[in-house]
Amino acid sequence: MSALADRPVNPVVGASAPHESAALHVTGAAMYTDDLAAHTAGVLTAWPVQATNAHAKVTVDVSGAYEVPGVVRVLTAEDVPGINDAGIKHDEPLFPSEAMFYGHALVWVLGETQEAARLGAERVSVEYEPLPSLITVQDAIDADSYQGIARTVRRGDAEAGLANSARVFEGVTEFGGQEHFYLETHASLALRDSEGQYFVQCSTQHPSETQEIVAHVLGISSSEVTVQSLRMGGAFGGKEMQPHGFAAIAALGAKLTGRPVRLRLNRTQDITMTGKRHPFHISWTVGFDDDGLLQALDAVLTCDGGWSLDLSEPVLGRALCHLDNSYWIPNVHAHGRIARTNKASNTAFRGFGGPQGVFLIEDILGRVAPALGIDPMELRRKNFYQPGQSTPYGQLVKDADRLETIWSQLSDEAAIVSRRAEIAAFNAGSPHAKRALAVTPIKFGISFNFAAFNQAGALVHVYKDGSVLINHGGTEMGQGLHTKMMQVAATALGLELHQVRLAPTRTDKVPNTSATAASSGADLNGGAVKNACEQIRERMSKVAGRLLGVDERDVRFSGGFITGLGNTTQRLTFAEVANAAYLQRVQLWAAGYYRTEGLHWNPEIMQGSPFKYFAYGCAATEVEVDEFTGSYRIRRVDIVHDVGDSLSPMLDIGQIEGAYVQGAGWLTLEELRWDSSDGPHRGRLQTQSASTYKLPSFSEMPEEFHVRLFENAREDGAVYGSKAVGEPPFMLAFSAREAIREAVGAFGPEGHMVELGSPATPEAVFWAVRAAQEASASATATVEDADRALATAH
Ligand code: MTE
Ligand code: MOS
Repeated sequence: MSALADRPVNPVVGASAPHESAALHVTGAAMYTDDLAAHTAGVLTAWPVQATNAHAKVTVDVSGAYEVPGVVRVLTAEDVPGINDAGIKHDEPLFPSEAMFYGHALVWVLGETQEAARLGAERVSVEYEPLPSLITVQDAIDADSYQGIARTVRRGDAEAGLANSARVFEGVTEFGGQEHFYLETHASLALRDSEGQYFVQCSTQHPSETQEIVAHVLGISSSEVTVQSLRMGGAFGGKEMQPHGFAAIAALGAKLTGRPVRLRLNRTQDITMTGKRHPFHISWTVGFDDDGLLQALDAVLTCDGGWSLDLSEPVLGRALCHLDNSYWIPNVHAHGRIARTNKASNTAFRGFGGPQGVFLIEDILGRVAPALGIDPMELRRKNFYQPGQSTPYGQLVKDADRLETIWSQLSDEAAIVSRRAEIAAFNAGSPHAKRALAVTPIKFGISFNFAAFNQAGALVHVYKDGSVLINHGGTEMGQGLHTKMMQVAATALGLELHQVRLAPTRTDKVPNTSATAASSGADLNGGAVKNACEQIRERMSKVAGRLLGVDERDVRFSGGFITGLGNTTQRLTFAEVANAAYLQRVQLWAAGYYRTEGLHWNPEIMQGSPFKYFAYGCAATEVEVDEFTGSYRIRRVDIVHDVGDSLSPMLDIGQIEGAYVQGAGWLTLEELRWDSSDGPHRGRLQTQSASTYKLPSFSEMPEEFHVRLFENAREDGAVYGSKAVGEPPFMLAFSAREAIREAVGAFGPEGHMVELGSPATPEAVFWAVRAAQEASASATATVEDADRALATAH
């Protein structure tokens, strides 16, 4: 059956539905994990004792805590009946004997109230036997401190490619991480029932893995633990692997006390205990031919994994698979490795390493364009993949021509040519403020690099009254997945959106789920929901066909009604057919399943076709930079982005806007700083709250912001022709960084290469402007010297 034939005449997918919880969100009625905890009778609160040393053997004496009224129990390593580990790599002791970073939770205190638990934690005494610590990536490189598997992507002969290049450049590109800063911090609530089974409500993107870790810490089987993820107040990758340990602490507390236990980190705990986007240090050599076409790239990428592996290996893998971004590079040798430092364990963050890979090539192109004497916009465009070419890891770049199509559509819609002329005129008359407009593309691979994760399940119930309840394995973090799943179900069953209800994500409804991540939530779970609905529709078609006197293949489901081709007199409601089906003993519920076909990947040699398809987009950002302060404004942003045939246009536009702003935050504002001195607070995160960690706020929004969805973009083989949207547009924010670079360049002489610190904070921009002006001054001096020399000669 072709996907098109699957679509009823008036599909609910493709319509702009508001987020299914929008009204609850804005009225404050939406329940989150800790709201449920607040309504749980007899609940205890867990509070951590955090290390105040970056690396040390610890001896913990908990006796003081018990002197505090209201302290019920202190959880320590001795209490763990199963495995004392919170990670799937078994390198994360839940109760460590060695503090591996400043802020590491050592033991947890359970109190009748939060206040009791907190005071109890203060009375726990910890003795530290300090060990040497590594804080920066450079520290780790110098100490040869690595973890996990190093990987290399190779194509052609990079060495020969460089040797044959007309122009060769080398450099180092370094950039920092990013704090997720989800509004809802990590939270879990665990209950143990009278049968000794556990129910854990957790703010997790990966309920099945949370379930596994809880089970292995408690030494019980997965079937004895149910994890529910009702909704998250943002996750952004930060709740893909990091909730597990917190859920396990709550469950262990419930086991030992027989009472419900709640755990919710406050902002400072969350920011000091949990991992962030991986910072990278990259050294590179790149070669171009005379026309500015990329010939070869040789690079060593070192990411900062923090104290344990967590998701560092796949994050590194995705970085290596995205350092080509949208550009054909015939010869590539890229080696990636994971540094081990004494910091919180870095983890998934929107783009999952992709942004870090893209950073490299965009930084290279932006830096060297002036030296090549080529307009950066042209340099990017001329290096685009052409149809038929493949990535360095061997995957054909399907629909590569979309890059050029999207670029030219953007160019028209953003009036790029005329605006650049205006900008040039503005700059000529403005010595102290310069403007620039940059365009950057994105090509982002969709699917998990780990093939097994590309499967999903769903459970759909049709009740006798025709109402529909769907369960699926994906989690809701604000991205609108639940809304899309309701749209998919309504479309597949020919119903109105309001006829479909969605139940919370739970491991006892759909087992063995993958994390809702890699932007593939809608692709995978949508495939499973659709599959379940189609099974039910087929069964109902037989019943309806008999009632309508038509062949079952001629039964149509649309708008809540069921009709038969050629039967002009009868129209049945969905409820009538559901009830008739029940009476005829026809099964009205189904388990749906989906797996992505056609993927193959060899992680060892980093070759294959790991992605189902690529999502494309282009963004044009105009900025103005001030000479005296280095401050800048984003004047206008235009985006054309490819989401296939959108399942839900309003949600998709929201995702694109949010992703762009979050990306711009990472690239221009958000700076994490650790104490790297040898003082008593070595390793302490200094940016622990919104007062010291600058997030994009309303005042940093682009003054004009135009987002358009690329049209006629149907992706065959994905659910109703749609494409994933969650992460790819994050990387459109490179256009902001590149626009700032070009505006800085306008303070310098022709051909001046701008090295821009990252994040491009006003401070970093200020110094880059200074460097540009100094280059101008020395260029003028050289010209004057030459003039004088000439004058004497005459
Ligand atoms: N949007 C909101 N509002 N909140 C989030 O936490 N996470 C992002 C993205 N969009 C996130 C978000 C990340 S990291 C991913 S992988 C996807 O949503 C996951 O959801 P999806 O697969 O359903 O797109
Ligand atoms: Mo997103 S980083 O894949 O959770």
